[in-house]
Amino acid sequence: MRYRDKHVIVTGGLGFIGSNLSLRLVEEGARVTIFDSAVQGCGANRHNLAPAGGRINVLVRDIGQAEEVPALLATANVIFNLAGEISHVRSMKDPVRDMKLNTVAQLNFLEACARNVAGVRMVHAGTRQIYGVPRYLPMDELHPVEPVDFNGIHKAAADSYHALFARSGALDACVIRLSNVYGPRMALNVTGQGFLGNFIRKALVGDTIEIFGDGTQLRDPVFVDDAVEAFLAAGCAPKLEHRVFNLGGPAALSLSEIGSIMASESGVKVEHKPFPSDLKTIDIGSYHTNSSRLMGDFGWAPTTTFRQGLKKTLGYFRLHLPNYLESRDWPRAQELLASVPVAISE
Ligand SMILES: NC(=O)c1ccc[n+]([C@@H]2O[C@H](COP(=O)([O-])OP(=O)(O)OC[C@H]3O[C@@H](n4cnc5c(N)ncnc54)[C@H](O)[C@@H]3O)[C@@H](O)[C@H]2O)c1
Repeated sequence: MRYRDKHVIVTGGLGFIGSNLSLRLVEEGARVTIFDSAVQGCGANRHNLAPAGGRINVLVRDIGQAEEVPALLATANVIFNLAGEISHVRSMKDPVRDMKLNTVAQLNFLEACARNVAGVRMVHAGTRQIYGVPRYLPMDELHPVEPVDFNGIHKAAADSYHALFARSGALDACVIRLSNVYGPRMALNVTGQGFLGNFIRKALVGDTIEIFGDGTQLRDPVFVDDAVEAFLAAGCAPKLEHRVFNLGGPAALSLSEIGSIMASESGVKVEHKPFPSDLKTIDIGSYHTNSSRLMGDFGWAPTTTFRQGLKKTLGYFRLHLPNYLESRDWPRAQELLASVPVAISE
């Protein structure tokens, strides 16, 4: 119970990772306040917090307006900063929107925190996309930052803001740069949020999964509970030895392997397709993470295999279909559910 009676602020807590983190914090005895403005096109979903039964204080507010609630900020013991837009594709269509969400709002938030709760531990959710096309693998924190899209540029700027506030002592901040995270509470009905949510939605409704390219590209998906454990460890470590950490899953899998595990767990078909041109320009090729800094500093390790995580994920969504799929998809998902004997779990 590392967080018992602590006041913890989670930004982006209505979204996928933030809600899973918030629920774990409640289990750990924390008093949780969420800042989330339910940005259209992001993963905010009130249903994500249903298990907390009202035990979480939700402020529907842009993090850039945090200065309006100084007293609330002042009582925070730890802040998990996960608010942000994750879509690389959308950032290329509307870079200014991405800039406002991932840099301007972040900078205003950090300034408000430095003014009202100076020196607080802050853990920011960064992304592996800032590194761009890998020069070597597995990717460690020393790799040059060479983003290939606006989202990567803006997330890199947000990382730098955290580093600057940490260097000056204004905030005790660090960044965890995430690989592809998957699990319960992903925003399956929001487009442009990455291939795993897209594959999982197709697995639920029975659509063919399309793999772009020859399928040899590597990814290291990480189950959300494992990612949440790393945030919890970083949030309560007595001292931070490093300010930046890479976080990835337990294994590097090719897209073909990911597709075939999906197919065997859901019965859907998989087919290969040429890369669409808008995706090709922002594709980084193969990626997998060197998470050894996180492991060394916090004793953290990802424990969930992709197959185990996928079973849990499909089980969750099968129980909560109407909260995550568009209504036109429900009948097909129900039909599939009735025809395939599958595990259903919370
Ligand atoms: N999901 C992944 O695989 C992944 C990978 C790398 C990095 N990340 C990072 O992790 C964080 C969480 O991602 P997620 O998958 O949970 O996304 P998500 O879209 O499900 O959740 C993000 C939440 O942030 C909120 N938000 C965005 N801008 C805001 C603002 N200015 N003020 C208040 N709320 C705001 C949205 O409403 C949404 O609820 C993001 O910062 C993302 O960049 C995620």
